[in-house]
Amino acid sequence: MGSEPFHSYTPSAGHGLAHDPFYAIVGPRPIGWISSLDEQGRSNLAPYSFFNAFCFKPPIIGFASSGWKDTVANIKATGEFVWNLVTLPLAEPMNISSAAVPHEISEFDLAHLERLPSEMVRPPRVAASPVHFECRLTQILQLQGIEGVLLENWMVFGEVVRVHIRADLVADGIYRTARAQPVLRAGGRSEYASIAPEAMFDMARPTGDEDLARLIEAAVGPARDISST
Ligand SMILES: Cc1cc2nc3c(=O)[nH]c(=O)nc-3n(C[C@H](O)[C@H](O)[C@H](O)COP(=O)(O)O)c2cc1C
Repeated sequence: MGSEPFHSYTPSAGHGLAHDPFYAIVGPRPIGWISSLDEQGRSNLAPYSFFNAFCFKPPIIGFASSGWKDTVANIKATGEFVWNLVTLPLAEPMNISSAAVPHEISEFDLAHLERLPSEMVRPPRVAASPVHFECRLTQILQLQGIEGVLLENWMVFGEVVRVHIRADLVADGIYRTARAQPVLRAGGRSEYASIAPEAMFDMARPTGDEDLARLIEAAVGPARDISST
């Protein structure tokens, strides 16, 4: 890079850096560690970091699969999946569960993870994970680029129908995000992050009338009395 204030590029023409910065900029990302079953009842587990929550009421989560992978095929066939929280002690098993092994081998076994039965869906939970969302499929959306070109990329959305939180992660009625030591996907080929308690901070939204009046006055000056003009 020269002395330009920005490194600017057009993605379709290449980023011009050693590693694609896109993944590092949009990060750290939560990981969708998704368990599912195929039509024969064989369990599957895989991490998806193009993952997030998209709706609060009802709670809807989603992840994107680059290619029609087993997880997507299973969820389309059965309509169910489970999201499992990846925590620091589970980082390595999560990584192992991403290995491309023959369909007959369950990533639960590959990563030496115990299955915990779910309550409202059939796919099992990762027993060692402290938080689980049992989900029912709502939509599978094939992504498209500019001019409507269909991509080999599918978004899977599911409604959360049952939530399990290990009791020690809730204190005074509040879920303690940092206490869970979540693993997040950061940049580069293999970077990850977690959240230390000291990295957390509070900031209330500017929603009250006084907040809004203060912001508007700071931006455009004191409110004028329209009746006198
Ligand atoms: C941390 C992490 C995040 C990943 N995120 C994605 C993702 O967002 N989309 C994707 O298609 N693959 C992603 N992968 C790769 C899949 O986990 C991998 O292809 C896996 O074998 C898919 O399993 P399945 O075919 O059983 O669904 C990720 C892998 C890791 C380790």
